[in-house]
Amino acid sequence: MPLVTTKEMFAKAYKGGYAIGAFNVNDMEMVQAIVEAANECHSPVILQVSAGARKYANPVYLKHLVEAAVETTDIPIALHLDHGADFDICKASIDGGFTSVMIDASSKPWEENIAVTRSVVEYAHAHGVVVEAELGKLAGIEDDVHVEASDALFTSPDEVEEFTARTEIDSLAIAIGTSHGAYKFKPGQDPKLRLDILEEVGRRLPNFPIVLHGASSVPQDKVAIVNQYGGEMPNAIGIPESELRKAAQMAVCKINIDSDLRVAFTAAVRKHFVEYPSHFDPRQYLGDARAMMKEMVKHKIVNVLGSANKA
Ligand code: G3H
Ligand code: 13P
Ligand code: ZN
Repeated sequence: MPLVTTKEMFAKAYKGGYAIGAFNVNDMEMVQAIVEAANECHSPVILQVSAGARKYANPVYLKHLVEAAVETTDIPIALHLDHGADFDICKASIDGGFTSVMIDASSKPWEENIAVTRSVVEYAHAHGVVVEAELGKLAGIEDDVHVEASDALFTSPDEVEEFTARTEIDSLAIAIGTSHGAYKFKPGQDPKLRLDILEEVGRRLPNFPIVLHGASSVPQDKVAIVNQYGGEMPNAIGIPESELRKAAQMAVCKINIDSDLRVAFTAAVRKHFVEYPSHFDPRQYLGDARAMMKEMVKHKIVNVLGSANKA
């Protein structure tokens, strides 16, 4: 099956009360871990590439790695630009064969967000590509932009109808309590999603796919491995997976996960080097990293997304 857009996946996910995982990729091991896990679970999947990933790996390499994944599996796979900052990066991704792009002008004033989003939609739709945009502001770090928790803003349901109507986007990312990165909340805090906002957004936008960014939950067992084997990750927690599961059963059709896979990757590599100090063949420790990420993706498909056997 060739690369697909997210249109059909989202329509089925909305009706079926589940969500599609959008996992960030920066190298071959990540692509393989995610796609092998999704394939074994018969789940559709979205592979997403940030500006940082484009800089690190070169989008042409990533595109061909994803094409290799498409060739070796028969699940629906979409290739998505994560957090496109302006029209030019969205256009470059569309021209380069991505099937979905995000234009993230959520930090810009209202009219500017609408204008740039609308221009991306016109170009994307003319090329058969779908567009995600964002309203609201998540706390955390993405591409070196740090948004303090005090500056984070929940999405206002009053804005979503006008925004989607004027931009004609295909999906909308909203801020309801998630945040980017691995250092989200302190242990002892009781982070929850504002499911009331999600419900109201869903009421105002019937059958419209909603996206959640910053949906890593900070796996405590993997953080413990990192720290047991010489790491110094601070104690932190994310939104519980049970809350994300509820959102997936509502209007949320795409759930973004990056940090949890990074933690799994690092845990496996740190453990490997301590257990096998003489090893120097990268296939040995990268193989362990790939296996731990794969296990993590399967866990998310079953416990958070509910997308197993939906391919
Ligand atoms: O939301 C941001 C993603 O986790 C990508 O992170 O910009 O460091 O590649 P990155
Ligand atoms: P996490 O940092 O919570 O994994 O969020 C990833 C994300 O939103 C990518 O766009
Ligand atoms: Zn994000």
